[in-house]
Amino acid sequence: MEYDLIVENLEVSVDCKKILKGISLKIKKGETVVLMGPNGSGKSTLAYTIMGHPKYKIDSGKIIYKEKDISKIKPNERAKLGIFLSFQYPSEISGVTLSNFLRTAYTAVKAIRLSFTDFRKLLKEQMKLLKLDDTFADRSLNEGFSGGEKKKAEILQLALLEPSLALLDETDSGLDIDALKIVSDGVNTVKASHKQMSVLLITHYQRILNYIHPNKVYVMLHGKIVMEGGNELVKELEAKGYDWIREKVEHKVRLKLI
Ligand SMILES: Nc1ncnc2c1ncn2[C@@H]1O[C@H](COP(=O)(O)OP(=O)(O)OP(=O)(O)O)[C@@H](O)[C@H]1O
Ligand SMILES: [Mg+2]
Repeated sequence: MEYDLIVENLEVSVDCKKILKGISLKIKKGETVVLMGPNGSGKSTLAYTIMGHPKYKIDSGKIIYKEKDISKIKPNERAKLGIFLSFQYPSEISGVTLSNFLRTAYTAVKAIRLSFTDFRKLLKEQMKLLKLDDTFADRSLNEGFSGGEKKKAEILQLALLEPSLALLDETDSGLDIDALKIVSDGVNTVKASHKQMSVLLITHYQRILNYIHPNKVYVMLHGKIVMEGGNELVKELEAKGYDWIREKVEHKVRLKLI
């Protein structure tokens, strides 16, 4: 199958408010697709909907993953099929260590029950790659983690679960220059693994694209994809902001009305 993910004319509402107004996009196996757009344009909504969050109601359209319509299956089943979502705002859970959380996630998603010792060994190897301190795994999940540490914990989870489709929602936000490189290297390492992970990367900034090279860039505005292009589009956005896209879209709408 050429495409890992096909989103077809997706319309989605939250609390009866229409957020996504007909989104179509495709990601080929092993491709990295970047999704940009101003705040509130619906990027996270799309990511949550692909992951199957119950808050997001699909009014019409389909999500096809590896030739299967997954629109109606539960998030945990989607995770078992190899879909992973890194959250824009990871939540804190006190009393659950990162290590325990990761072991539970690993067992549930991969259906492999490693002994405590074997899991710790695997975890330590991955933590070393991400240049994380040994004590990190024994802290409560995300509690007191800095913004950058939370993002690293998400990538640690990604490295352990080795998904085939990773939805990365602003994984680059709040990272310092070194952390950005470490996190990007982490994504690239998993990407280069035998699974040929596909990535939907949501970002506001060009800088992560110095490390992770996209095959395609989509721009969202008011719940629709209004433009697509390559890396040059990201540079144009960085230089000009979103107003020129808004003007272009409004111009098109006016032409249609005349
Ligand atoms: N429960 C809700 N009720 C009403 N509107 C909502 C609800 N949840 C989300 N929205 C709206 O949906 C729109 C899209 O939100 P979303 O989080 O997908 O945007 P985004 O593109 O990810 O923005 P950002 O770049 O700021 O992360 C926003 O206008 C938001 O206010
Ligand atoms: Mg968002």
